[in-house]
Amino acid sequence: MTEKRENWGSRFGFLMAAAGSAVGLGNIWRFPYLTGMNGGGAFILIYLGCVALIGLCIMTAEFAVGRRSGLAAVGAYKSVSDKWSFAGALGVLSGFFIMGFYPVVGGWSMAYIAKSFTGLLAVPEAIGDVFGGFISAPVEPLVWMVIYLAINVFIVSKGVQGGIEAAGKVMMPLLYVLLAAIIFRTISLPGAGEGLKFLLAPDFSKVTGQTFLAALGQAFFSLSLGMGCMITYGSYLNKEEKLPANALIVTTMDTSVALLAAVAIFPALFAFGIEPTAGPGLVFIVLPQVFAQMGSLGPVFSALFFLLLFIAALTSSVSLLEVVVAYLIDQHRMERKKAVYITSAIMAVMCILSSLSMGAMSGFKIFGVGFFDFFDILTDKIFLAIGGGLLAIFVGFFMKKEDLKDELTNGGTVSFPAFELWYNLTKYVVPVIIAVIAISGILAIEQKSLMIFGLLIIAVLAVFSKKL
Ligand code: PHE
Repeated sequence: MTEKRENWGSRFGFLMAAAGSAVGLGNIWRFPYLTGMNGGGAFILIYLGCVALIGLCIMTAEFAVGRRSGLAAVGAYKSVSDKWSFAGALGVLSGFFIMGFYPVVGGWSMAYIAKSFTGLLAVPEAIGDVFGGFISAPVEPLVWMVIYLAINVFIVSKGVQGGIEAAGKVMMPLLYVLLAAIIFRTISLPGAGEGLKFLLAPDFSKVTGQTFLAALGQAFFSLSLGMGCMITYGSYLNKEEKLPANALIVTTMDTSVALLAAVAIFPALFAFGIEPTAGPGLVFIVLPQVFAQMGSLGPVFSALFFLLLFIAALTSSVSLLEVVVAYLIDQHRMERKKAVYITSAIMAVMCILSSLSMGAMSGFKIFGVGFFDFFDILTDKIFLAIGGGLLAIFVGFFMKKEDLKDELTNGGTVSFPAFELWYNLTKYVVPVIIAVIAISGILAIEQKSLMIFGLLIIAVLAVFSKKL
């Protein structure tokens, strides 16, 4: 390679970038609505189990694989065995597909910052219709999506230290401040206690096999795992960093933001007597109704909340774009700027299809769903869990135990007392649990043709792995 590979500038910078990747729409947009739809506290318990047992092991493993090889997803697998390139390629493809809908929602959050001040809150009864009208419009959401994607292009084209790390260092602390302000306001609403009860008292009657798949998929999605993102970020880490400690910090930060987002949202819902099962529209329809009842400060809190959502989304989508860009740089020697432009242009096309699938193209279905759901279900329900399972098998059975120990203890200079526990969990327990949940969950996916298509893609990648 002509240029020296990039590195993070500081530990703080890396942590903000990695936590920035993890904390995203998954925490603030998706986690609350999944919790609402899956029985509150029961879903949270299952989710926490997935994070602690599986997420933490896989995050540690991804950091180790990334730093050991010093390469992004495909290269990292390939450095051990050509046959495994497909697992990395599956990750790159997942990054692509998630970026086929993520910037659409990122654009919504930007639009809602502006809308907070332009009359959105004036007629609370109309907020639901406003959202429906907005996301199904042919032009307005596309404009916001393009602006959103352009900001991603700007950051990622500036590189690891000057772009991604610099953005994370400013935005992540701001995110925590904003979240604290919102929680402070919503938790002091009269009637908020009911919402807290919903979160703390588990209702297991809503739990099915699909609940477990939803929790597992959400754990991977929220922690940015199963698609080579943390491999890529780990590949920019210097040899002095302690990997297990960093994995623990990032996992804790991500989980705490998800829980805090739920604490910010549910008390407010219950305080205003609103149903928690609203689905994906939850934060865009229900929360503005709450803000509308806050009087003159309503627009300010509303704008702050959507700014928070935007910041969270941005530091995540930047990492998704980086997974694909880093692959092109590492494996195809492409120049960074060129890789960013080409990749984001394709993503823009996918996002246009996703956005239009909410309105003008709502009648157009592939494998029984619109484009938005196509990209979402394929990644979140199928690819990420399988990607994570493959990584665990790869680490457990195809990498040398001594190499892993060497990497996780920085050549024996720092201690990692839980190494044996981590190793055995990752090798034997994690793949089995993922297999059980994924197989039963994936087979039960309603859209059978989509499920078969997803599995077929993985098979095709496996066959052509050597060319990647
Ligand atoms: N973790 C991000 C979120 O919660 C999404 C993401 C998934 C980012 C996979 C990178 C890789 O929104």
